[in-house]
Amino acid sequence: MDSVIITGAGTGLGRELALKYGKEGYHLILVGRSEESLSEVRKQLNNAHIMVMDIRNKQEVDANIQSLLKEYKVVGLINNAGIGFFGPFDKIRENEIEEMFQTNVLGTMYMTQAVLPNICKLDGSFVMNIISTAGLRGKVNESAYVASKFAVRGFTESIQKEYEEKPVLISAVYMGGMNTPFWKDSEHVKDPSKFRSPAEVAEIIFSQKEKECVVIESK
Ligand SMILES: NC(=O)c1ccc[n+]([C@@H]2O[C@H](COP(=O)([O-])OP(=O)(O)OC[C@H]3O[C@@H](n4cnc5c(N)ncnc54)[C@H](OP(=O)(O)O)[C@@H]3O)[C@@H](O)[C@H]2O)c1
Repeated sequence: MDSVIITGAGTGLGRELALKYGKEGYHLILVGRSEESLSEVRKQLNNAHIMVMDIRNKQEVDANIQSLLKEYKVVGLINNAGIGFFGPFDKIRENEIEEMFQTNVLGTMYMTQAVLPNICKLDGSFVMNIISTAGLRGKVNESAYVASKFAVRGFTESIQKEYEEKPVLISAVYMGGMNTPFWKDSEHVKDPSKFRSPAEVAEIIFSQKEKECVVIESK
């Protein structure tokens, strides 16, 4: 059975992508730091493996991915885990900038480096990077988050070129706001309930999963 690794699979979009890919017949490897939320998602899937891991830790990523690759036929990686801190640029804290870059940029690169070379020759293999419309254009009070997402876009476009001779599909997904726990500690967005649901976004992503670039603007 083909396995797909999804980071940040315990909540929000990652959870909905896991449920969708599970329904479509894939085995899921659910990555995140909270075992509790990953276990809740696993309960809704017939067949899933939990990997409690912090994607910011390269040693942890390398060791865990090596053991997963021995156990499962991994064909896909969805780099979905991400965090955001918002506010005027002069108020953003050093630790917030660092955490965003460590998670959104370095975590995505560590995961990709551990997985991609091992799957890139398989037909049907893929790496999908969940970015944001923040990876397409600048936004007020989102400077550091936008900078981190532009970095992921640059990384994605570069590996698309580097691996273009290989059968692996490397894709970038840019979506607008979603109603997820992403906003729970933030006042940046007044009413996230107006956003698309992560389930709707997961459906759209799955329906366009053969494309190198998917843009899902806010409603
Ligand atoms: N919500 C939006 O409006 C929106 C819009 C555009 C793009 N996005 C992007 O969509 C992606 C998913 O976000 P979401 O909205 O679904 O938010 P979310 O519910 O907060 O999901 C983020 C997930 O990432 C995991 N995570 C965070 N840091 C991690 C780490 N160091 N190691 C492993 N897992 C980690 C979290 O789980 P743990 O805390 O348990 O690790 C969480 O499950 C993110 O990349 C985000 O930037 C969101």
